[in-house]
Amino acid sequence: MTHLRTRDFGIGLVAAMALTACAYRGEPAESPPPGSAVAAAADSSQGARTYAAECAGCHGATAQGTLNGQVPALAGQHRSVLMKQLRDYREGERWDARMEGLMQEHRFATDAQLDGVAAFLAGMNMAPAGGGPGGETAIRARGERVFANSCATCHGARAQGSEPRIVPRLAGQQYMYLRRQLHDAVDGRRPNFPRDHIARLATLDADDIDGLAEYLSELSP
Ligand code: HEC
Ligand code: HEC
Repeated sequence: MTHLRTRDFGIGLVAAMALTACAYRGEPAESPPPGSAVAAAADSSQGARTYAAECAGCHGATAQGTLNGQVPALAGQHRSVLMKQLRDYREGERWDARMEGLMQEHRFATDAQLDGVAAFLAGMNMAPAGGGPGGETAIRARGERVFANSCATCHGARAQGSEPRIVPRLAGQQYMYLRRQLHDAVDGRRPNFPRDHIARLATLDADDIDGLAEYLSELSP
C-alpha cells in the first residue's frame, strides 16, 4: 500500500506539471471520463462549460485536485466559499500566481462570470482524497482529537463547513494541500485568513498538522 501511494504521488506531480502547461494553452488536458466535468460540458450548463474550458486543466476533470498538494479539490465546496476565494485571488488578497493570473484576465472581471462555475462545483460530488503516504492510525487519532477540540465549532462536526457562514468544507480535501495551507497560513503566505485563525493554527505542532491532514483527507461529510 505504501508503495502504491508513493508511486501515485510521483504520477500526480508529473501529471500536474503537464496539466499546468496544457492549461495555459486553453486545451483540455486529458480525455474526459464519462460523467466528468468535461463530459458535462456538452450539456447546456454555462458553469460546466466554463469549468471544462478554464479550470479542468489544473483542477482535474472531476475537480478532485492533485495528490502533490499544489491544486486543491473543488468538488462539493460551498458556493460562498468558492466565490470568496476567487474574489480574493482577483483582488490580490490571496496569493498564488496561477490563480491570480487567471482571475485578473478580462473574462473573470465580474462576479457574475464566476457564479455559474461556483454553483456547478458546489453541486459536484467529492470523493475523499484518502490520506497521506504514511496513513498511521495514531496520527489520525491525534488529528481527530485536535479537530474536535479546536476546529469543529466553525468547520462543523464532520468538517462539512457552512454555506451561510462562508466556512470551507475540509472533509475529503487533498492531504498535501491541507498540510501546505496550514503551514502557509502560519508562515504568513495566506493573507486572507482572519488573524485569529492564524493565531489558532500557530499553536499546532508538526504532528498535529500531519494528523489533521490525515484525518480530514479521509473523511466524507
Ligand atoms: C494553471 C492552473 C490552474 C487553473 C487553470 C485554475 N486553477 Fe484554481 N487553483 C490552482 C492552484 C495551484 C490553487 C492553489 C493555490 C493556493 O495555494 O492558494 C488553486 C486554488 C483554487 C481555489 C481555492 C480553493 C480552496 O480550497 O481554497 C479555487 C476556489 C479555485 N482554484 C477555483 C478555480 C476555478 C473556478 C478555475 C477556473 C475558472 C481555476 N481554479 C483554474 C490552479 C489552477
Ligand atoms: C472561528 C471559526 C474557525 C475556527 C475555530 C477554525 N476555522 Fe479554519 N477557517 C475558518 C474560515 C472562516 C475559513 C476561510 C478563510 C478564508 O476566507 O480564506 C477557514 C479556512 C480554513 C482552511 C483553508 C481551507 C482551504 O480550502 O484552503 C483550513 C485548512 C482550515 N481553516 C483549517 C482549520 C483547522 C485545522 C482548525 C482548527 C485547528 C480551524 N480551521 C479552526 C474558520 C475557522
